[in-house]
Amino acid sequence: MKTESNNQRGFWGSRMGFILAASGSAVGLGNIWKFPYIVGQNGGGAFVLIYLVCIFVIGTPIMLAEFTLGRKTNRNPVGAFDQLKPGSSWTGIGYMGVLAGFFILSFYGVVGGWTFAYVVKSITGSVLAFPSPKEAGEFFGNFIGNTGEVLFYHALFMGTCIAIVLRGIHGGIEKACDVLMPTLVVILFLLMLRSLTLDGAMEGLAFYLTPDFSKINANVILVALGQAFFSLSLGMGCMITYGSYLSDKENLTSCTVYVVIFDTLIALLVGMVIFPAVFAMGLEPTEGPGLVFSVLPTVFASMPMGHGVAVIFFILLAIAAITSGISLLEVVVAYFIDQRGWQRKKAVLIVGSAIFAFGIPSGLSFGVMADVKFLGMNFFDHIDNIASNYLLPLGGMLTAVFVGWVWGTKNAHEEIEKHENEFGFPWAQCWEFLIRYITPVAVGIVFIAKFFPH
Ligand code: PHE
Repeated sequence: MKTESNNQRGFWGSRMGFILAASGSAVGLGNIWKFPYIVGQNGGGAFVLIYLVCIFVIGTPIMLAEFTLGRKTNRNPVGAFDQLKPGSSWTGIGYMGVLAGFFILSFYGVVGGWTFAYVVKSITGSVLAFPSPKEAGEFFGNFIGNTGEVLFYHALFMGTCIAIVLRGIHGGIEKACDVLMPTLVVILFLLMLRSLTLDGAMEGLAFYLTPDFSKINANVILVALGQAFFSLSLGMGCMITYGSYLSDKENLTSCTVYVVIFDTLIALLVGMVIFPAVFAMGLEPTEGPGLVFSVLPTVFASMPMGHGVAVIFFILLAIAAITSGISLLEVVVAYFIDQRGWQRKKAVLIVGSAIFAFGIPSGLSFGVMADVKFLGMNFFDHIDNIASNYLLPLGGMLTAVFVGWVWGTKNAHEEIEKHENEFGFPWAQCWEFLIRYITPVAVGIVFIAKFFPH
């Protein structure tokens, strides 16, 4: 029954709209900016394999669990846990999620701002003026250290997210993703064609696709797991929130499969754009976070049709960032609408501004605040670390325990099958087994390994 929904909440207009929006949340800077550089740093193909295992064995069951919680309760993460176990400390998972959303968007918005700036700078051609990644890296370093410019683009990015979320679920988020996600796919294919037809592209492809298992250790597995959570937008109630606007007749399992496959394909395709290009130009893939901002511009500069390619690449990056940024904002906004009874407009404006303000020190972390370090890390790195490496895996693990053991897979199963008998043998059994035993234990082990490094 949806009677408890208040009229500020909203709904998805169609199943396709929902899938595009949830995929929009999942496909983001995590896929295009982070995935290639951590593949580069962690040994290429072997890392990709471990990542795929994490996606299918751990990520997919949790995504289905989150959609189910959301649709069952029609609530934000806090409201969802509270409705199923009223007054219990399980609600804490919801609060952790809302906090993680706030934290992640605070630094995600900064990087989103960088992508906006690079769209402009690639149009004017200024990012393409360098013969080597060293100079391009210096240009990037100067830019992210420039207080005025960084804050301007950060504000522009947050303003864009606010403007979309203000228009609500159907009229704002869904409409935006309906246009932006297909655009993203087209752009990605164009880029891939260009990249794979460069001389020397195959060497990059080999690095990317040939596993070298000597590179695998506990830390690599940890990074792969964290990336799986981040990339699928799991562990913080984002998919609970998006699921909460879904009608009872939709098929939750097939939606989950579509979103996971879409997100994973995009990450893999991005690798096929970046590694062939990097190798073809004789550059190193181990560059780290600067890979797309300092290595790629050099690649574009020395590539036929490079100017146009650069512009569409950075537009791709900006689109991916927006469709994820709005989902992060929506989680926090939904909390204030559902739990505090705020109007959408008030919630979006206040929450959006607060996240922007809290993000300012992250924005300044590579400039005037670069020396403000605590335990060797700047503000940006701390917020990223707390949210991505602690709150998300912990949130994901506790969500699995909650659905597997507390609310129970029987109740979850009923919700999944509410409309039709869609979740049969052997998938239902397989999911139950994964969510009860494998997911919590696997995340637990990885966590312990993290605290007791050897
Ligand atoms: N999945 C997004 C990305 O890959 C980031 C994100 C994380 C979005 C958590 C929402 C929630 O960039």
